[in-house]
Amino acid sequence: MPLPKAELHLHIEGTLEPELAFDLAARNGVKLRYADTEELREAYRFEDLQSFLNLYYELMTVLRTERDFEDLANAYLTRAAAQGVRHAEIFFDPQAHLARGLDMRTVVEGLWRALGRSEENHGVSTRLILCFLRDESADSALETLEAARPYLDRITGIGLDSAEVGHPPAKFRQVYETAAGLGLRRVAHAGEEGPPEYITQSLDLLGIERVDHGLRCMEDPELVERLVRERVPLTLCPLSNVRLRTVDTLADHPLPAMLDAGLLCTVNSDDPAYFGGYADDNFRAVRESLGLTEERLRELARNSFLASFLEDDEERRARYLAEVDAYVF
Ligand code: ADE
Ligand code: ZN
Repeated sequence: MPLPKAELHLHIEGTLEPELAFDLAARNGVKLRYADTEELREAYRFEDLQSFLNLYYELMTVLRTERDFEDLANAYLTRAAAQGVRHAEIFFDPQAHLARGLDMRTVVEGLWRALGRSEENHGVSTRLILCFLRDESADSALETLEAARPYLDRITGIGLDSAEVGHPPAKFRQVYETAAGLGLRRVAHAGEEGPPEYITQSLDLLGIERVDHGLRCMEDPELVERLVRERVPLTLCPLSNVRLRTVDTLADHPLPAMLDAGLLCTVNSDDPAYFGGYADDNFRAVRESLGLTEERLRELARNSFLASFLEDDEERRARYLAEVDAYVF
């Protein structure tokens, strides 16, 4: 049994495995420009974030119906459960789907068909986080939030993803303010490829409660001090960082230094179908490459539940934390 954990940085579209992509393409009459899953896997060599995003947006065109989103989410939840994930806060990218002519209902209700039954079917509690694409306009983000209004009972929070450099958090100040007024929780990708200032801006201008990635905070000691002092969680994704060349090798990952600095770090899979591993694969990889002790791994698992948006169910959080404490390696 793997260590119990929460997954807090997971793009549902990034869980689309090649086999499912081809199945959905056949079901929906979508032509992919790859002959088979093997040829598709060959394309999984990324130079940087943008080269990955190009394939990520291309492949998600196979998702067309509620059933497709339900199947995608169920496939993820099955794998996540087998990897010890007890709670998952799941990102989705509605703008990428609305731009292809789908409506918000298809996306949210499709995902909800799986998420709403996830506890019974998979033993995994879930939350849904709507992400805005930062390389789209601020107006488009506001329109997307409006389109999501009928579904806010299904949506816990908002996030910000896609191409980071050149798209500073300040651009999304208004939509974050509106979302806060609606009672939505707030996270944002920052400091993955972008500079430490984007982390500071996300905290000061967007009021974020967790930083997704946040790796580059290590370039700014004052920012590290602030993140430690304010107990701001970071959702790190080690295998993603290697595949997108944010770090050279896993052995170079700053996770041990970040933990030593007192940062509230969590380990997550980001886009596991593309980056070679789900949640526990990331835990095992950092254990092996960075020599993390069992107590460090337990700390990471504890952090994942502490950083999760379970304020509406503290009893559950306490149960999950007790599972972590009782875990025998
Ligand atoms: N969308 C999916 N994965 C992402 C990542 N790692 N960074 C930014 N946007 C993303
Ligand atoms: Zn991400």
